[in-house]
Amino acid sequence: EQIEKGGYDHFMLKEIYEQPSAIKDTYRGRMLVDEAIIKMAGVEDNMKKFLNANRIIIVACGTSWHAGLVAEYIFEDLARIPVEVEYASEFRYRNPVITEKDVVIAISQSGETADTLAAIKLAKSKGAFVFGVCNVVGSSIARETNAGAYTHAGPEIGVASTKAFTTQITLLTLIALRLARANGTISSSDFRHHLIELEMIPEKVKKTLESEAHIKMIADIYKDVHHFLYLGRGYNFPVALEGALKLKEISYIHAEGYPAAEMKHGPIALIDENMPIVVIATKRGHYEKVVSNIQEIKSRKGKIIGIVTEGDVEVKALADHVIEVPETLESLSPLLTTIPLQLLSYHIAVMLNRNVDQPRNLAKSVTVE
Ligand code: G6P
Repeated sequence: EQIEKGGYDHFMLKEIYEQPSAIKDTYRGRMLVDEAIIKMAGVEDNMKKFLNANRIIIVACGTSWHAGLVAEYIFEDLARIPVEVEYASEFRYRNPVITEKDVVIAISQSGETADTLAAIKLAKSKGAFVFGVCNVVGSSIARETNAGAYTHAGPEIGVASTKAFTTQITLLTLIALRLARANGTISSSDFRHHLIELEMIPEKVKKTLESEAHIKMIADIYKDVHHFLYLGRGYNFPVALEGALKLKEISYIHAEGYPAAEMKHGPIALIDENMPIVVIATKRGHYEKVVSNIQEIKSRKGKIIGIVTEGDVEVKALADHVIEVPETLESLSPLLTTIPLQLLSYHIAVMLNRNVDQPRNLAKSVTVE
């Protein structure tokens, strides 16, 4: 096992560090930057189905559901296709309205999640076209779907999903961009710009990973608290949910993710000097609004950990700690802002002596209801 961990203390840490290459493996051969082309057989072969779709319904569970939420922003923003994101477990039991004009995208790392599999079967029985986004080749979901694409993240052993999440987002971004091009909802220069920026993401993830020592120091300060709040807006709202999930899963600290603007409808009541609040406040995407949320937190003495764009000064002046990520397009920012949240959870869990790779009560793949 030590050899399999490749010198890292845990599979989770190894998998966090594998993200630059895993993301590259996801777009390799599919994204040709010089030619400004994206090609994926599963999408090309079914282009009519995608372009004629009334809407896309995404079904998934857990972290994969969070990737689906990020995809909702990307698909709607770039390809202008309406998207609904559903917990597979809810979708399968609530007699959903599904027609032959619906495209369902099922996202699953393992390809074995029972609820997601059942949701796929239901959608197929109603005549919808079902596209799978899986990591495990030949898995049940990969076989059950009408078409699909693999993330190529490599085996993920840690129960808490890391590289599966970022590669799912990468793959869904490629699909959204391809459809946007086919739909004519993105200009050729904007399309090219996205490809160039996506190609730079692995290096920027690497750069973000260099903050590990700083993040470890922050983990040490907050490891003994009982509650954490995570806030983000737009593309980074799902990242807040995922950050909170990661902390819950492996450290057993209670954490909630919220859209930053919803704070005033409840969570603000929890804020006092003992409450750490992780706020994703990168430069593009509602920055000024997030800054005013941060001011609200500060006036209630909450402890602020800001995830900011390199060179930020405004949040730095208000926050107790900041963790910088390189600048990128807003639509690609989740691929960077997720990284410090993974490391923060990891280090808190290690300091609390938790079983990081196999947290209590959790399973890597949930093949029963
Ligand atoms: C379990 C795992 C999570 C995962 C979820 C969905 O709860 O512990 O990490 O996100 O299942 O799994 P899937 O394989 O369908 O992505």
